[in-house]
Amino acid sequence: MNAAAAHDKRVRLGVVGLGRLGKRHAENLAYRVPGAELVAACSPLEEERAWARGTLPSPRLYDDYAKLLDDSEVDAVWLVTPSSLHAQQIVDALRAGKHVFCEKPLSLDLAECERVLAEAARFPHLQATIGFMRRFDPSYKDAFDKIAAGAIGRPFLVRSQTTDKNDTDGFFVRFAATSGGIFLDCTVHDIDVARWLLGKPRATRVFAAGAVALHEGLREFGDVDNGVAICEFEGGKLAMFYASRTQAHGNDTHSEVIGTAGALAVGRNPRANRVEIYDASGIRNECTPSFFDRFEDAFLHEARAFVAAVQGGAGSEAQAGATLADALEATRIGNALRQSLQSGQAVTL
Ligand SMILES: NC(=O)c1ccc[n+]([C@@H]2O[C@H](COP(=O)([O-])OP(=O)(O)OC[C@H]3O[C@@H](n4cnc5c(N)ncnc54)[C@H](O)[C@@H]3O)[C@@H](O)[C@H]2O)c1
Repeated sequence: MNAAAAHDKRVRLGVVGLGRLGKRHAENLAYRVPGAELVAACSPLEEERAWARGTLPSPRLYDDYAKLLDDSEVDAVWLVTPSSLHAQQIVDALRAGKHVFCEKPLSLDLAECERVLAEAARFPHLQATIGFMRRFDPSYKDAFDKIAAGAIGRPFLVRSQTTDKNDTDGFFVRFAATSGGIFLDCTVHDIDVARWLLGKPRATRVFAAGAVALHEGLREFGDVDNGVAICEFEGGKLAMFYASRTQAHGNDTHSEVIGTAGALAVGRNPRANRVEIYDASGIRNECTPSFFDRFEDAFLHEARAFVAAVQGGAGSEAQAGATLADALEATRIGNALRQSLQSGQAVTL
């Protein structure tokens, strides 16, 4: 197929998982991504399929992932399922001849990540990417381009945080059973950002510590609601991470990159919009309430890039997202942070 013909071909997608984030992805794929056609959706829950019936442009609905994979009119699957299912579902998609996008993290288990990479190597004609959407956020992308152009000299230190607004209904405690813990769920984004902005260095040693400030129920999962970490990379590069589930003001995700000739900060004021309130308590702005409000554009750009990559074929320039190898490194470091948190010792990688 020549490039123009490939570009004209619509990519028929099946979304799998219609929970908190899956619904958002499904709406993007159905209505906001040129070249995409959402033809199928899968959830084991009737209430989620009912949502799809009422909201999406009549996709075929499946209660079982295997049935969706049997659908010969699905070119690509879009996995937004619990993290513990990702690895096997990616392998199954590739074996069924489907391109695959999967939400982060690739897996909670390093051996499973390696198994996915080995399997994907057998299908080089299929796209397989992991949803580290910060790479598609316009501000993070601008910082990446400026660093690549030498704006801050040689970057050697990243300080990055992912902090969620406190959720008093206990969501984070229920989520802890499948999330892999705060470092694999939240900090995994900061790890990917740090490696991406520092030129993909290899991590050599980490140390992590944490506290339960509010959500006592996390203890039974070995998890914390606030965590800090230091990561050393080869070549004298460093990263510092902070993750939290207990912020009062909203989702406050930001990063700084320090170089030999300057520094860049991305999103240090997590402003919801450009309104400033002047009143008796001073001057302030409201904060993005959730990760989705902060990264709505990034999720959309990510979906458009994936579809363009499928249209453009393997090795396409449009494939700017995190590779399976990037995602494996993020899990390797995230796992080491969890191990360090539990042992109280630094972990050498
Ligand atoms: N990129 C980000 O910033 C970001 C943010 C939130 C969540 N996530 C990731 O997205 C994934 C889903 O998170 P969520 O918050 O939407 O979780 P969720 O629990 O709200 O949704 C999970 C969905 O998977 C479905 N599901 C469960 N088992 C299934 C199976 N065997 N086959 C098909 N579907 C199945 C559930 O019915 C549900 O629709 C997680 O891996 C999470 O790490 C990423």
